[in-house]
Amino acid sequence: MPESSNDKAVTIEALMTEQRTFAPSDAFRAQANLNSESVYAEGEDYVNFWENEARHIQWRSPWTQVLDWSNPPFAKWYVGAKLNVTESCLDRHLADKGDKVAYYFEGEPGDTRVLTYRDLYHEVNKLANGLESLGVTKGDRVAIYMGMVPELPISLLAVARLGAVHSVVFGGFSADALRDRINDSAAKVLITCDESWRNGGRIALKQYADNALGETPSIEKVVVVQRTGADIPMVEGRDIYYHDLVDDMSDEKAATETDSEDPLYILYTSGTTAKPKGILHTTGGYLVGASFTHRNVFDIKDDDIWWCTADIGWVTGHSYIVYGPLANGSTGVLYEGVPNFPDKDRFWRIVEKYKVTQFYTAPTTIRTFMKWGTEFPERCDLSSLKLIGTVGEPINPEAWIWYNEHIGRGNCPIVDTWWQTETGHIMISPLPGITTTKPGSATKPLPGIGADIVDDDGNSVPLGGGGYLTLTHPWPGMLRTIYGDPNRYVDVYWSRFSKPAEGKWVYFAGDGAKRDEDGYFWLLGRVDDVMNVSGHRISTLEVESALVDHPSVAEAAVVGRMDATTGQAIAAFVTLKGHVVGDDALLGELREHVAVKIGKIARPASIVFTDELPKTRSGKIMRRLLRDISEKRQLGDVTTLANADVVKEIAEKAQAASSRENSQE
Ligand code: PRX
Repeated sequence: MPESSNDKAVTIEALMTEQRTFAPSDAFRAQANLNSESVYAEGEDYVNFWENEARHIQWRSPWTQVLDWSNPPFAKWYVGAKLNVTESCLDRHLADKGDKVAYYFEGEPGDTRVLTYRDLYHEVNKLANGLESLGVTKGDRVAIYMGMVPELPISLLAVARLGAVHSVVFGGFSADALRDRINDSAAKVLITCDESWRNGGRIALKQYADNALGETPSIEKVVVVQRTGADIPMVEGRDIYYHDLVDDMSDEKAATETDSEDPLYILYTSGTTAKPKGILHTTGGYLVGASFTHRNVFDIKDDDIWWCTADIGWVTGHSYIVYGPLANGSTGVLYEGVPNFPDKDRFWRIVEKYKVTQFYTAPTTIRTFMKWGTEFPERCDLSSLKLIGTVGEPINPEAWIWYNEHIGRGNCPIVDTWWQTETGHIMISPLPGITTTKPGSATKPLPGIGADIVDDDGNSVPLGGGGYLTLTHPWPGMLRTIYGDPNRYVDVYWSRFSKPAEGKWVYFAGDGAKRDEDGYFWLLGRVDDVMNVSGHRISTLEVESALVDHPSVAEAAVVGRMDATTGQAIAAFVTLKGHVVGDDALLGELREHVAVKIGKIARPASIVFTDELPKTRSGKIMRRLLRDISEKRQLGDVTTLANADVVKEIAEKAQAASSRENSQE
């Protein structure tokens, strides 16, 4: 069994033997989009399966080959086919769904906007015309750094309408993070907001953007959405307000034809190095995968009201707020703010107000609701809900059961969906009309998806065993490469378990997993140096290099430690330079420094100052020991340590720091 950075093995073990199961009700099964096991058999011929699924989206001209896997691991899906994704998401709905609501927007302060498919189509066209007038053409990269307002999905779609490539940077990232992402993709235009609303306060997005833009030579124009109306500096000749750009533009714009394999977007995610990876997704296969999974995992019907609470800055928002739902012509809620503004019942008020039928959120959010107590969901009528889902990290069985009882009212199938930025869409998940679920298990690979658990040598582990999660054949929404770095793509995902000499190509997901006797997958967390904090991927190395960037820091080691609410929390161990004193003021300064370098989500929960870090004789930091210390476990093997004494000292300091933290709570 690989070492898991998120050692949940004990709980999962107990659970796997307990085997509490939840079968779909007869009523749900009868009405489900997919309700026959035969779909799994169909999925075995995965090329044929995905060819059939492709009919759900609109193509301008068909493919000559479904999958070209002649140059692995570089896949081509729907070879030679032409389309523009916005025609599937917008144009084709105009005839029968023009007046259907695409988005119910709910602003955090309480303002609302309703956009029908026709409205959205016109808004997208206007912005596409506006962006074109700024010089954006097919293949150009456009960076997007915004809050969750309607102009955000409109921006993604307008870029796609021109056949250009969007690169959304989550609004919680810092100026430095934005700058690096803009520079990596050499984006030509940035779309941002003056400010965004968050937790009753304002996030100064344009100001952060301005800080980044001093060092982004590729950016020619900046489009600024007025969200709060703040008085912000505009740079003459570079910056233009969104409304000034689009107001006089035509609301018609012919979509640019793209090839199925033309890039649709880049989305940066943390890997095991300090430099985030630009995950590149292409057009046809991605849309087929996003649309299939949205329709069938969430069992979407025409009159449903869908709500995915993710931010469009993450892949979940790309696939399940924008592309999947719009390709399926469904109605969705777009909420700008946090779950506890103005009160801790905000999400449930929204469910009640819009009569949300399917609700999709992260385990960390569910655990937060558990902490807040049942009075908040109990205030609201949640009877519209038919299905609830989770994504982003393993859901612990307690949270699953709480979600089932208090949000699903014992009446909604729960879909625990495993996937990644790289996979583009859901890969392992129940099909709610078919699958009997077990709390804590994402169950089985979807039809058309191949997954296996392997040992260190890449051999399949028999049922009942654990190892590394792998994907055994290509799938339509898979990343095509890491932007600008194909070697890294091959190396990170395909080199560990593939056997090219035997023609065997296996994708390594970076997760540990077990499979029970029924073939159910139980995800155990990352096996690499990637942390999962509130469902967000953060690399230990990225945080370490942010810490080391501070003038007082000599060396830093960062690990993820288990946290009851956020899944993992960031624990940092820092050695300081020369005679610098590690006091509380410096501690606060370092946390802030990380926020500035990466974003607030990467701020360490704890920092321990130490004279030395535990290292092997070859000088490698032993993060495993630091994890043991952080999680107050019996220390693992210390025989390879060059400096064994230091561990005791660190453990004492960590203990003292955690009692300080607790007494401050
Ligand atoms: O470790 C897995 C965890 O989140 C990682 C992917 O993170 P990201 O690319 O940011 O995408 C998150 C949203 C798709 C995975 O490698 N993960 C995601 N979903 C689950 C999960 N772990 C367990 N169960 C899940 N349902």
